[in-house]
Amino acid sequence: MKKRTLMLAFFLISFASNAGGSRVSCDDDYGAVKKICHIYHDIDDPEITLAPPSNVSILLLSIRDNKGVKYLPVNVSKTFPDLPHYDAINCSITNIYRNNVRGLTFLTTLNLRYNEIETVKRDVFSDLTSLLALSLSDNKVKHIEDGAFYGLTKLMAINLNSNVCVNEKISSRGLNKTEIEIWVSKFYIQCQLQENSQSGQN
Ligand SMILES: *[C@@H]1O[C@H](CO)[C@@H](O)[C@H](O)[C@H]1NC(C)=O
Ligand SMILES: *[C@@H]1O[C@H](CO)[C@@H](O)[C@H](O)[C@H]1NC(C)=O
Ligand SMILES: *[C@@H]1O[C@H](CO)[C@@H](O)[C@H](O)[C@H]1NC(C)=O
Ligand SMILES: *[C@@H]1O[C@H](CO)[C@@H](O)[C@H](O)[C@H]1NC(C)=O
Repeated sequence: MKKRTLMLAFFLISFASNAGGSRVSCDDDYGAVKKICHIYHDIDDPEITLAPPSNVSILLLSIRDNKGVKYLPVNVSKTFPDLPHYDAINCSITNIYRNNVRGLTFLTTLNLRYNEIETVKRDVFSDLTSLLALSLSDNKVKHIEDGAFYGLTKLMAINLNSNVCVNEKISSRGLNKTEIEIWVSKFYIQCQLQENSQSGQN
């Protein structure tokens, strides 16, 4: 009887801990002047979250030079609600989902250089209403969905150098919404043309 209760308790505990999902933590250098949190672990789970709030504001969340990182963590804004800078450079990220950047309304720069991103989906960045600069250079971008940069009303620079269907860096002071829409539709058309010409060859 006692044994059974113990087994049941054990089952409940393992179930409960599983329900929390997997987590990754970032190692801080909070003592430094520029507070940075580095993620040094591999990430191969698309639902991974960051460890619970550490109660500090950081300047930069940084993931670098780790081909074992295939996804960005989700719901980062729950840990760092006022995060201003986010880098995930030289990893193996193939996709960006809205959950990765949801609620990061104070983010001003997002740098995703040197990854494997092929598609920029519609509406993924739409919570990033303070974003000034976005870099997707040196990826494999070949599809840009219509509305991909929707909501980025403060954006002044997008770097799309060295991709498959786009190779362009655009920056300007105070670009207005119309101008951003014009670029986006230009990229969209460029990518569509490239795709059509490729499927025509096959
Ligand atoms: C992320 O946040 C959303 C919205 O709050 C929630 O529905 C989802 O379950 C969260 N995901 C994880 C893995 O915690
Ligand atoms: C978190 O911050 C609040 C206010 O800044 C403070 O009162 C509280 O003690 C802190 N909690 C921890 C665990 O550091
Ligand atoms: C990317 O990271 C690898 C180590 O994982 C390093 O050897 C390589 O030089 C880095 N590439 C760039 C462009 O920084
Ligand atoms: C945006 O900028 C363009 C070119 O600089 C200009 O022609 C247009 O009137 C502006 N639109 C708005 C809504 O400010």
